[in-house]
Amino acid sequence: MFPIRRNRRLRTNAAIRGLVRETIITPNDFLVPLFIVEGKGIKEEIASMPNYYRYSLDLLRDEVKTLWNLGLKSVLLFVKVDDALKDNKGNEALNPNGLMQRAIKTVKDICPDMLVMTDVALDPFSSYGHDGIIENGKIINDATVEVLAEMSISHAEAGVDFVAPSDMMDGRILGIREGLDQSNFLDVGIMSYSAKYASAFYGPFRDALDSAPVDMINVPKDKKTYQMDFANRDEAIRETEMDINEGADIVMVKPGLSYLDIVRDIRNSFEIPIAVYQVSGEYAMLKAAAEKGWLDHDSVMLEQITSIKRAGADIIASYFAKDVVKLIS
Ligand code: PBG
Repeated sequence: MFPIRRNRRLRTNAAIRGLVRETIITPNDFLVPLFIVEGKGIKEEIASMPNYYRYSLDLLRDEVKTLWNLGLKSVLLFVKVDDALKDNKGNEALNPNGLMQRAIKTVKDICPDMLVMTDVALDPFSSYGHDGIIENGKIINDATVEVLAEMSISHAEAGVDFVAPSDMMDGRILGIREGLDQSNFLDVGIMSYSAKYASAFYGPFRDALDSAPVDMINVPKDKKTYQMDFANRDEAIRETEMDINEGADIVMVKPGLSYLDIVRDIRNSFEIPIAVYQVSGEYAMLKAAAEKGWLDHDSVMLEQITSIKRAGADIIASYFAKDVVKLIS
């Protein structure tokens, strides 16, 4: 006997598929990561991230305008810091006239309504390429949290809308929230990288910022003492719950595609906006496969982005943001 219900009826043609489609991608879904360098007239392609660039502040202006005109209204800023300015404590991160602080002002100057978020972590400023201060071969937690709070205040003074701590120190959300509140930045929000895994997918990003851990005695070779073990699922719930209790406005799962089970767990556990970071290695993989002609770039890109949203993401940080928006408009 044939079944009464024939599920294929709802797939007969494009019109009916459109009517019953559950997940729709729009420009409002995206947060655009931007890499910024010191200098003038610089737009340099990142070797392991084809068609993605580092911009000097003058050319950043044009890029921000382009994004805004495409309907992309939120950016996440990262800076590549000169080696000479790096040290163990990330002092340059607090420079009121540092590259990040000037980048925030530049974006707000050219496009006051653009939502500006900043990465808060020491690694781009650390002579050791770590997200925290090192003492006797270890990343020390509480002293690092103090610097992260000061860094957040410094970004707030420059005009940031949200800070995005990506360091995975314990208690940093509370430290940052208290710091911001005491300095009267009550409206500056926190997007916490809550479930951030120690992942090999960050490789191209570390090329982009020259921020990989250095190979030296007494410097940990990886970030496994602070970023999460990729074998763990329940721990992501604990991490996220803590960040919410400490005052996070938005939580994040990172990387994206290999961690969509975590995204759905968090969606089912908490009523809070969730961001997912589709990271540099995910971008690089598709670019490489497409370059070889082994995958169709645009189809796979849209399938991946839709999968991230279907899993439960409200916000997607992605290097594909511009490409996707051009494709769907
Ligand atoms: C810095 C930071 C990293 C990324 C975002 N913020 C690198 C890391 O933690 O080592 C990775 C982003 C990407 O790979 O696209 N703490």
